[in-house]
Amino acid sequence: MNPIDNQQFVPTLSISRYPKQRHDSLKGWNGADTLLVEHVIQHINPSQTVAIFNDEFGALSCALDDYQQVWYSDSYLAHQGVQSNRADNHLSPITTYSTMAVQQDCDVWLIKIPKSLSHLEHQLATISEQAHKDQPIILSAMVKYLNKGTFKLIERYLGPLSTSLAKYKARLIFTQLSKTPTPSPYPRSWQALPYPWQLSDHANVFCLGKLDIGTRFLLEHMPEGEFKQIIDLGCGNGLLSLAALDRWPQAHITCCDESLMATESTRTNLKRNFPEQPPRYQVLADHCLSQQPNECADLILCNPPFHQQQTISTAIARQMFTDAKRCLTPQGQLCVIANRHLPYWPMLKKSFQTVKILASNAKFVILIATK
Ligand SMILES: C[S@@+](CC[C@H](N)C(=O)[O-])C[C@H]1O[C@@H](n2cnc3c(N)ncnc32)[C@H](O)[C@@H]1O
Repeated sequence: MNPIDNQQFVPTLSISRYPKQRHDSLKGWNGADTLLVEHVIQHINPSQTVAIFNDEFGALSCALDDYQQVWYSDSYLAHQGVQSNRADNHLSPITTYSTMAVQQDCDVWLIKIPKSLSHLEHQLATISEQAHKDQPIILSAMVKYLNKGTFKLIERYLGPLSTSLAKYKARLIFTQLSKTPTPSPYPRSWQALPYPWQLSDHANVFCLGKLDIGTRFLLEHMPEGEFKQIIDLGCGNGLLSLAALDRWPQAHITCCDESLMATESTRTNLKRNFPEQPPRYQVLADHCLSQQPNECADLILCNPPFHQQQTISTAIARQMFTDAKRCLTPQGQLCVIANRHLPYWPMLKKSFQTVKILASNAKFVILIATK
């Protein structure tokens, strides 16, 4: 194995973000990947099986190809990204797993600390139930993302920890299981008052256990019309789909999200609140609407994300709008709820014929775009 260079990651590897963007200057790895790979190569024997959590684009999987791997992520894009980067580096595909299905069969646990503390908590809890007491558990993060809450969670679920010196603006955290195994407190059940829906949220859903104020504003100002084929793009826990099923009893709803925990939560929530058979909805993991045919929807509801993993970016929203235009019927409407400061109006204006304001308040604006 060549020495590790954080500017180039492992010099023999080419790692891109996924999906690949033209003119993308952002790297597909960061110092937390480099530091973790450096440590594993120096201290862990390649005969060991490593469990890898939250490898954003497959950098860890590619760099640790000498090890047997059990690879977990909640992100559909990460599942695609790891296979794409492995293929680009002439490595064979691997089996990938959801972080909702953690198993026992590894010797060492490697966790790139995820963005959401509740997602980390879920992973620590499931690891506490699966790990053996003598197995090394190594977590890695950029220093700017580490805080007291992270350390407290690790100590609460696993036991005492120690840290590495900071290098590449990252730090490693070392621990082993010494605490009594604790089951994950997720999914969490709650009611989205003032609405009657009972919800169950997995650990990595947007605005877990709470009604986001932007979502609430859209629920109060749903578009007018007789819609038959509706898409909930970036469905989260399915709140907008629940409102759509309620408001348009003749409509069929397609719910898409790139988080596997979001799609699983949506499936549970729609089934619980609308148990009718056959169901008037389908739920799938996708990157935007890549699996949907042209002109299949007369209404698309969208509360877009403004970051991918830990990176703030409008790239996903842009792709959502491009896909929405392709998937809308000629008279169809794209309904976008957004924070006022986000540049969605000019982005929509570029590709849609009309963009109108349906409602606005001091913080949010709801835009209706038609092609
Ligand atoms: C702001 S949240 C909105 C959630 C929900 N619709 C609501 O209003 O409460 C944005 C959602 O987009 C999802 N998302 C992020 N990137 C995506 C992508 N590339 N394709 C599909 N969904 C994505 C996130 O997982 C998240 O659930």
